[in-house]
Order: sequence, then C-alpha cells, then structure tokens
Amino acid sequence: MTAVASPLTTTLEVRGVSVRFGGVIAVADVTFTAHTAEVLGVMGPNGAGKTTLFNVISGVQRPTSGEVSLGGSRLTGRGVEDVAALGVTRTFQTPVMFWGLTVRESVEVALAAREFGGTYPPAPWRELLRCGFGTPGRRRENAVLRECADAILTGAGIAAMAGRATESLAFGEERLLEMARALAVSPNVLLLDEPLSALNPDEIEAVLTSIRSARASGVAVLLVEHAVGELLAVADRVVVLDHGRKIAEGSPQAVAADPLVIDAYIGDELE
Ligand SMILES: Nc1ncnc2c1ncn2[C@@H]1O[C@H](COP(=O)(O)OP(=O)(O)O)[C@@H](O)[C@H]1O
Ligand SMILES: [Mg+2]
Repeated sequence: MTAVASPLTTTLEVRGVSVRFGGVIAVADVTFTAHTAEVLGVMGPNGAGKTTLFNVISGVQRPTSGEVSLGGSRLTGRGVEDVAALGVTRTFQTPVMFWGLTVRESVEVALAAREFGGTYPPAPWRELLRCGFGTPGRRRENAVLRECADAILTGAGIAAMAGRATESLAFGEERLLEMARALAVSPNVLLLDEPLSALNPDEIEAVLTSIRSARASGVAVLLVEHAVGELLAVADRVVVLDHGRKIAEGSPQAVAADPLVIDAYIGDELE
C-alpha cells in the first residue's frame, strides 16, 4: 500500500479518454484537468457518460483509449485499490455502511485506514484490529482518533449523529455519514456521483457544506449532479458532456448561458 495521500500535489489530468461498449461510445475523447481546492461540476443529460468517466478515473473501468494521471503519476492501468491508495475516493449512489458500528466509530475506521495506509472503503474489523482498538496501550491514540472523528463529524454537520448505530440511519443520514468518511481519508480527489439525490433540503445543505469544506482543505472535488441549480451554485468550473463528448467547459455562468448546453438539456433536466 502507498503512504498517506497529500492534498498538495493534486492535479487530475484526463487526457483523450474514450470508452466504447460494443457499438456504444460512452465517452468520446474527453480531456480536462481538475485542480487542487476546486469543485469541478460535471454536467450532462442522462447517458452522457458521466458515471463511465468516474469509473475510468477510479480505476473500475479501463478506457478504450486515453489516460488519467494524478500529480504526474499515471492512474490508468492500476487497480481500484492502488488508485484509492493514491488518494482518489468516491462515494456511491447507494451508501456502503459498516453495520455494528456507531457513526463515530465508522469515521474512526476511515481515519485508521488512512493512518495505516489501507484502502477505501476500508474493511472495518481488519482496520480496528490493526490499530489496536480496545487494548490499554492504545487508549491515548484512540482518544486522539476520537477527537479527530468528532472534528470531522462537526465539519460534516452531523455531530449530533455521533453515538447512533449505523443500522438506525435513514437514507439521507447514511449519505451524510458516507461524505464524512470520505473526508476522513483525506483524499486528493473526491468523486461524487449525484450526492444530492433523494435528500431533503437540510441534508442537501449538509452535503454542500461538506463539499465546500473538502475544497477548503485542498481536495479536487468532481461533482456529477442532476440538481443543476445546486451544481452551478457550488462549482468553480463546469465541464459538460453530451453523448460522451465534452461540449462545453468554463465558469458556471458561461456554461449555463451556452446555447450548445441549453440544446443538450432541452427535453431533459433543465425545464
Ligand atoms: N457497462 C456498460 N455496458 C454497456 N453500455 C454501457 C455500460 N455502462 C454505460 N453504458 C452506456 O454508456 C452510456 C453512458 O452511460 P453513463 O456513463 O451511465 O451515463 P450518465 O452517468 O451520464 O447517465 C449510455 O449509453 C449507457 O447505456
Ligand atoms: Mg450516471
């Protein structure tokens, strides 16, 4: 496993990436860069290739051509675990929970995974054993871990959930915990695929707060989101895909006013 990711070296470069599934070209020669401490919105109608692009970046999907690199190191061709160890973290449409833990413990596990160079999402019990939870000699370290976890929960706006069992969480609360865990591993790059879907307004605010705090701590956040208003409000720059191609890139204002973008969305998400 590689050492702890540093948020200071991030520049994610996507160069000429194409993905073909049989006769379908899901991603067509897409090039862009995501920088440290920015939120890059990735917009596009259904089927535009957004999720496939995230799969390529996280190492789940090998591109047909092109490559992705991070801080000058090639990610393409590495396995998912290696890409994660280099600091590329993603959340899932359906949050992945660690049953049997409290919310705070779930974040402690993610923190321990970072300290011990593990992968994300970490295997909870292996990480707990590795960092010596419960042994007297580790009490002091565990207190530090707990303090860090509480700081992360506060930053993610869910300090009040700290003592609750993961089994008791509603869907939106699981999403908020997943965001907190993702922040706990100090990623270089955070890939968020529709993190606001099915959330209530308070939960949306909490996720947006987490996104902003990730940016403030130097993370390159890539955000795919169908809620276009929220995406344009939080993004520093936006890349727009349509039928796999990049059709626009620029400031939220410029992209929202771009006739090509408006055309792509007619009959889709933009009313
Ligand atoms: N595993 C796959 N096999 C075949 N076609 C796929 C696969 N994954 C995605 N596609 C196709 O690729 C295109 C882009 O899909 P996707 O990346 O999911 O778009 P988005 O996330 O923007 O809605 C769609 O036409 C979709 O049907
Ligand atoms: Mg998708």
